[in-house]
Amino acid sequence: MHPVRVDVRTATGGYAVLLGEGLTDHLGRLLDERHIFPRRFIVTNPVVWRFHGERIAGALPGAEVIQVSDGERHKHLASVAHIYEALVCADADRGCVIIAVGGGVIGDMAGFAAATYLRGIGLVQVPTTLLAQVDASVGGKVGVNLAAGKNLVGAFYPPLVVVADPAVLQTLPRREYRAGLYEVIKYGMACSADLFRRVQAEAAHLANPAASFIAPIIAECCRIKAEIVSADERESGPRRVLNFGHTAGHAIESLTSYRRFRHGEAIAWGMLVASQVAVARGLLTSDDDRALEALIMNLGPLPHIADLRAAQTVEAMRRDKKVVNGRLHFVLPTGIGTTTIVDDVSEGELTAALTLVGFAAA
Ligand code: NAD
Ligand code: GLY
Repeated sequence: MHPVRVDVRTATGGYAVLLGEGLTDHLGRLLDERHIFPRRFIVTNPVVWRFHGERIAGALPGAEVIQVSDGERHKHLASVAHIYEALVCADADRGCVIIAVGGGVIGDMAGFAAATYLRGIGLVQVPTTLLAQVDASVGGKVGVNLAAGKNLVGAFYPPLVVVADPAVLQTLPRREYRAGLYEVIKYGMACSADLFRRVQAEAAHLANPAASFIAPIIAECCRIKAEIVSADERESGPRRVLNFGHTAGHAIESLTSYRRFRHGEAIAWGMLVASQVAVARGLLTSDDDRALEALIMNLGPLPHIADLRAAQTVEAMRRDKKVVNGRLHFVLPTGIGTTTIVDDVSEGELTAALTLVGFAAA
């Protein structure tokens, strides 16, 4: 077994992202080799644990398991409090590590608990969704939602190691798998024309989560993200590009109480909105916009947005984290694989773009 290894640099050192089919069975050894504390708490949810618990428990003998409710609507402070209480009950001290086993929701919440419990204990990310393997587990962003908006509370807290096994994606529902593919398209459209073209060319194969097809794509996304976050860990510069599609995406997730859209689906709508703004400004050609739309729409149906009012969506965008000094920073595509960041998109432009994409005008 020769995992792909991608290194991420951080202000405090760095960590490896290890990617390989079957790595789950070697989790204990991989952590031991890195001298990661032997007292280990797995934070997961009942869905992930039902599919993969036996195998993971076998690979991490003696690890204690803390379960939180499944789903984005449970990504809030009450779930983090549940993790703290379980740690306190078990007398967990600073010589402990949290191992986040799940999708991005678990990774973000367990990561936030690790960042804040006793002012910080060790964290290992074991992502089990495509979205978490290509994006959420890498880069150290952890946090939770507030009713007012997505990821409004959080921290930058790098893991000690990320261990991603594409074999676990076999149990992922098709819809969740597609949601991860939208984030792959995000990397292509925002950062890499090569990746975009590859996804276009391999679209028929990618619809099937066979590890042999998807593993090289996951590795490429991790390499792209590692390069960006190594250069800008705390999102003061180039990392902002990774927020392509997130401004409108986060707004519609929050407007629908985190129930209608998978995160990746909301980002897919968000990319289409940002691209319409870019086309209207003359920054993006209609051909490139159509190529993005075709790639997204050919993957399968997205949940509808026709009942969401453009004005309400603009209002929700104004509460986004990307508002700095009252100005909303917006990532706009300028071609396949390139973007620019602007802070002067007007409400009128946003309303026009939302309406063109299909949001309700009034
Ligand atoms: P998720 O964590 O809700 O997982 C999706 C569903 O799949 C859940 O029901 C989960 O229990 C289930 N699941 C997970 N692994 C499975 C498996 N192997 N087999 C069967 N079912 C499985 O959603 P997600 O799309 O992974 O993550 C979305 C979250 O990630 C959002 O909250 C988003 O804000 C966050 N995110 C964070 C970052 C970051 O940098 N920290 C980046 C992108 C997204
Ligand atoms: N998902 C965007 C980032 O990690 O910066």
